[in-house]
Amino acid sequence: MVRSIVLVIFLTSIFLSQCQHESIASFKSTLCTNDTRKIPLFATQDIHKTFDRAHLRALNIRVIHISTLINDRKVATFDKDRHYIDNIIHILDNTQTSKNDSTIVYTLKVHANYINRTLIHYSIRMIDGENHIFRINCSDVILIIGPSRVIDKVFKGIIPFVIMFISIQMGILLDLEVLKELIRRPIQILIGFCCQYGLMPLIAYSITKLFRYESLYGLGLFVVGCCPGGWASNQWTVLFDGDLNLSVFMSFSSTVASFFMMPFWLYTLGERVYLRDLKIRIPFVNLTQSLLTIIGPLGIGMLAVYCCPKIKPIVTRIVKPMLLILILYFFVFGAFVNFYLFRYISLRIALSAPLLPWLGFIFGGLFAWIFRQDWSRIKTVGIETGIQNVGIAFMVLLYSFPAPENTQASVIPLVVAYLSAQPFYLILLGRFIYRKCQKPEKPVRYVSDDTLSKTTRRLSEEESEIVDTSSPKRKPSIIVSVAGMAADSEPLEVS
Ligand SMILES: *[C@@H]1O[C@H](CO)[C@@H](O)[C@H](O)[C@H]1NC(C)=O
Ligand SMILES: *[C@@H]1O[C@H](CO)[C@@H](O)[C@H](O)[C@H]1NC(C)=O
Ligand SMILES: *[C@@H]1O[C@H](CO)[C@@H](O)[C@H](O)[C@H]1NC(C)=O
Ligand SMILES: *[C@@H]1O[C@H](CO)[C@@H](O)[C@H](O)[C@H]1NC(C)=O
Repeated sequence: MVRSIVLVIFLTSIFLSQCQHESIASFKSTLCTNDTRKIPLFATQDIHKTFDRAHLRALNIRVIHISTLINDRKVATFDKDRHYIDNIIHILDNTQTSKNDSTIVYTLKVHANYINRTLIHYSIRMIDGENHIFRINCSDVILIIGPSRVIDKVFKGIIPFVIMFISIQMGILLDLEVLKELIRRPIQILIGFCCQYGLMPLIAYSITKLFRYESLYGLGLFVVGCCPGGWASNQWTVLFDGDLNLSVFMSFSSTVASFFMMPFWLYTLGERVYLRDLKIRIPFVNLTQSLLTIIGPLGIGMLAVYCCPKIKPIVTRIVKPMLLILILYFFVFGAFVNFYLFRYISLRIALSAPLLPWLGFIFGGLFAWIFRQDWSRIKTVGIETGIQNVGIAFMVLLYSFPAPENTQASVIPLVVAYLSAQPFYLILLGRFIYRKCQKPEKPVRYVSDDTLSKTTRRLSEEESEIVDTSSPKRKPSIIVSVAGMAADSEPLEVS
């Protein structure tokens, strides 16, 4: 009899302790949901932990001691810039509950400081009526994503429309006669294609390896490398007396080809080198959508001009003002909106990322030179290869990649956009200074069109310069006569 009583007590106590464990376990599962909380940068959001009163009652909990800690205080902090908060919640006796809530909600304000992910740890000690202590530890992921202030929404929302607009314009302005002529000489198109989609991605890859980019920024540069040529290249081609038709057609064909080549590079080399390391996947649907945004309007533009040729002169007239607006949009508004991104980039990356376009100029030109193109085509291919359509990189990154990597990586296109054209400005400045200095000293008798005499002329100019410094009186006699000729000899001087 006694034995059986002992056995019953024993079994009951096991059963009860088991119950308590189960109850703790189920309590923990309601409390620790492993949420991922997305908070936009600069925003402050409330994060809640909810305690179920029924559970607390079942365990006879009187006091909850809760400590919360944010792992990386650079990424997020509680209010007053703390990353650690200790709190004690006293639970009133269940019989005299003043509030009729079924839950107790513990609220923390979390401020997002930096785009990245971090963990928030909760260490919870609960003390019941008999001073037993139950411990529960759990953590949630905090994901700080790109900011969603109004200006961010405006900037991000407008990008696809800007790109569509440029594509429509490009489709309208494409001269079908020129297209036919160039298709008859496919070698230039082939050179352009190889530079755009062979050289550029590989240059980007080499830079990221050589300068030991983190995968995230490597990915950013690689996406820029896989982009088609940009609209700005046509303007530079005109400024440097290149082959405008070739430039326009290269922009056009690389834009069309981006539909296949971008996924090709991203899902092969990009996947192996960057994406696998970052443990992210590019959703194919999103990428296709982004790319359709580029080439769909191109077709619409071509169709529009085919159906209604009258719109072409109108569009031609608005090209320049639109370009100005777009430059303002990207460079002034874009810089203002994305200013915070400059925190995310190190000097090493900021200085090496622009090597992509710069090496693109050089290698593109070299490639064209190897294939025996003339000087104006060499310049065109170089410019076209180096200048990327950075807007597309922005769009593909922002719209096709998961947060927070999308915003973090978009600092690279920003830097590339800013620094791409700097060598051209330098060349223009140099050319300007050169012209100012050289004009007065060109002797008339040497001016001729073949290269040999140009060289002799330049040599003699240098001589006369030396002479000039000693006897400035000789200058005036020749100024007027040579002024007109200076422009023709430009390409050679730039080299
Ligand atoms: C939640 O996270 C904990 C540890 O952090 C883990 O043991 C548990 O399996 C996770 N639960 C879910 C549903 O992911
Ligand atoms: C408490 O809330 C429950 C439902 O949530 C309701 O049925 C009950 O009447 C409430 N009691 C008091 C005292 O407000
Ligand atoms: C984000 O945080 C991880 C560690 O949590 C760190 O390795 C990584 O460099 C951070 N990324 C940036 C862009 O700061
Ligand atoms: C919970 O976390 C605290 C510190 O954060 C630690 O001291 C304790 O051992 C942890 N408890 C469990 C059960 O993991």
